[in-house]
Amino acid sequence: MLRFDIISIFPEFFRETVDYGIVRRARAAGLVEITAHDLRRWTSDKHHVVDDRPFGGGDGMVLKPEPLFAGVEALTGKARREDFAQDTRVVLLSPQGRVFSQAVAQELAENSTQIVLLCGRYEGVDERVSDALVTDELSIGDYVLSGGETAAMVMIDAVVRLLPGALGSDTSAVFESFSEGLLDYPHYTRPPEFRGMKVPDVLLSGNHAEIERWRKDAARRKTQRNRPDLLK
Ligand SMILES: C[S@@+](CC[C@H](N)C(=O)[O-])C[C@H]1O[C@@H](n2cnc3c(N)ncnc32)[C@H](O)[C@@H]1O
Repeated sequence: MLRFDIISIFPEFFRETVDYGIVRRARAAGLVEITAHDLRRWTSDKHHVVDDRPFGGGDGMVLKPEPLFAGVEALTGKARREDFAQDTRVVLLSPQGRVFSQAVAQELAENSTQIVLLCGRYEGVDERVSDALVTDELSIGDYVLSGGETAAMVMIDAVVRLLPGALGSDTSAVFESFSEGLLDYPHYTRPPEFRGMKVPDVLLSGNHAEIERWRKDAARRKTQRNRPDLLK
């Protein structure tokens, strides 16, 4: 069982988003538990303040370190990166992080039993959080979102579908895009002809060796066209 604990100032964002499709099924099957916690829960002042102005001046607000440290400590039992169990990960969602990929998703799915996701807002998070607490600072791509919640949900989805038993068949994830360094091959379904566009004959031939060969070629062609960087 993998446990995700999300710390956010908008925990309600996750209420419905974890309740669809494969993620929902995996939760129902007991493969994963996903809990969203309100960062304000770990404030100690009367107004539950989670942010403050940046030292050195400049625009915007920064999420304070105290509630994030307290939250991670409450959820993991530890307050420093060095003390976490090997299968505990504390992930900071950040555009400054290493780029999240299928390989990172696979690694997290295989080696973790608890993943704490810290969602930033405003100008970001006090740097001492990433210095002392975070095991992985991860970005979902080279663009800036207004908060870490959508990025956290992307990661949860990508990791959960790699948990054994989460997909209909254990092999479904093996032939997907990125799993073998290529994009997936093109898929077609009925009707065999639509608005003059025909499904390639080979897919209707019943010749499995030919179909396999066509799919390999088509995957390579599509990768060459859309993501030549993957072929290097
Ligand atoms: C407006 S952003 C902060 C941007 C920061 N000042 C910068 O320029 O690097 C607020 C929060 O959104 C989240 N975020 C934004 N872009 C992201 C990305 N590409 N991947 C993951 N999280 C992201 C992070 O949690 C971040 O702390």
